[in-house]
This record gives sequence, structure tokens and C-alpha cells, in this order.
Amino acid sequence: MKICHTKQELRTTLTELRRTGSIGLVPTMGYLHDGHMSLVQHALQENDHTVASIFVNPTQFGNADDLTNYPRALEDDLPLLREAGVAAVFTPTPDIMYHDAAQTIVETTDLANKLLGALRPGHFRGVATVVTKLFNLFQPDRAYFGEKDYQQLAVIRTMVRDLDIPVIVRGVPTVRHDDGLAMSSRNSRLSPDARAAAPILHQACLAAQDRMADRPSAEELSQFIHDMIGTEPLADVQSVDIRNAETLEPINGPITQPAVILLAITFDPVLLIDQFVITPN
Ligand code: PAF
Repeated sequence: MKICHTKQELRTTLTELRRTGSIGLVPTMGYLHDGHMSLVQHALQENDHTVASIFVNPTQFGNADDLTNYPRALEDDLPLLREAGVAAVFTPTPDIMYHDAAQTIVETTDLANKLLGALRPGHFRGVATVVTKLFNLFQPDRAYFGEKDYQQLAVIRTMVRDLDIPVIVRGVPTVRHDDGLAMSSRNSRLSPDARAAAPILHQACLAAQDRMADRPSAEELSQFIHDMIGTEPLADVQSVDIRNAETLEPINGPITQPAVILLAITFDPVLLIDQFVITPN
């Protein structure tokens, strides 16, 4: 596996790889877990070459502590990617990634500023800008993102559509621990008590799916989830949203189309997100 530290090394490596087939990209911020490796497995199945990036992108963190405390483990990540069969990995520093005088941003103006974007102003602008840069640098045939980050996936699909970026975006189902907690690099920052409590997110979604038999309104279902998660003293509910699964537009009243439950819950100081698609009976 080729490790590329600079854009020039990456370009040379990709030119070689492209001669012998298609390229699937898995962009990551490292601290890899089975969720990332599932993205890699999907990429390996569909492409001749799978490549990855590991870059903790400063522009998507609103809070300096969150950026500093974001877990990193390059020495563990690289063997995982190598053993899986990844052909090349790009591991730039922020100085390599961003020009000193960078002033260009990419923003999906509506989608970026609601839901999680309202809780974390600037976050999706940072994501859209860095993913655009990665798409330009790698020029992959396909790129793989987790469905757990549901709004991120919607932002990336929208930006690819709006800017005519020639890449196929694939969403990959969330990988969960046995107790239902969605895999996330952030889980490593939970205290033992918070880790034990965190499966309440998925339990509340499963219970909400069961409640669909009673045909609740979106407001009732949201309140039900809020109350259930509220029974866990360590959980601080930031938002519970029930939205149209495709457009992420709010649903008022009866749920008549596929909807997505979007959760943002803090287990101090760690913000966990999760999602669950529900279908009306
Ligand atoms: O999902 C992530 O790990 C990041 O947001 C991404 C897509 C790699 C952009 O930095």
C-alpha cells in the first residue's frame, strides 16, 4: 500500500492506478473501526482499486477542544487498510491540504444550515469543502460514506448534483455494536457510564418503529423518542427530528411516507448522532 503525504505523490500514484482500472475512494478522519472497514469492503467489491484518505479536517470543527480531542491512531489505521487490500492512502497535514491564503468554500446553502448544521454552524461547509477537494484530488469513480452521518450524505449528494462532480456517491448502512450503538470514532471518548447508557439512542428508534403501528403523528413520535432518551440521566437531548427521508424537509402531522429519525444527543462532552429510517405501516 502506497502512503502519500503530498498531493504530488498522490497524483503520481493515482495516474498509475487509473491505467489498470476504476478507483473507489473512502474518505475518513482515521481512528478506523468496523464502520469504516465496511466502507472499504463495499469499495473493494465495486472497484479495481480502493484508495482512502485519513485527514482530521480542521474546518469542520467549530470548537478547538473538539478538534484537539478528536482521537487519532495512524499507526493502527495503516495496517488495517493495508491488510484489507487498499492500494493507496493519502495522509496530508492541514498545511498540505489547505493553501495559506485559501478563501474558497463550498456550501449547500439550505441543507448545511439546518438540523445538525444549526447545532454546529459551519460544520457542513467544512465537510463540503474538504470533500470537494478530495474529489478533485482523487477523481474517483465512486466514493463511499456511512449512512450514520445521514445529513452529511445528503449534503454530499446535493453538492455532487449541483456542481456536476463526476463521481458516484454510495451510502453504506450503519454498522452497530452488539448492543445497538452505532460505531463511531467518538465512542472512544465516552466515559464507561456514558458508553453503557449510549445504546438508548438505537433502542428509542426501535421502540419508535414499533409505535408506528399506532399511526402516531411526527410530533407525537418525536416526543415519545425524546421522553424515552430523557429517562437516561447522562443523555442530554440536543435534537430529535423526524424528516422526510429524501428531502429532509420537516413532517407535520401523520407520517405517510418513509421518514428518517435524526438524533443528536450529548453525553457530556461527546456529541453522538444516529439515524433510523421508518416506514408507515
Ligand atoms: O465522515 C467523515 O469522516 C468526515 O466528515 C469526512 C467525510 C471524511 C470529511 O472530512
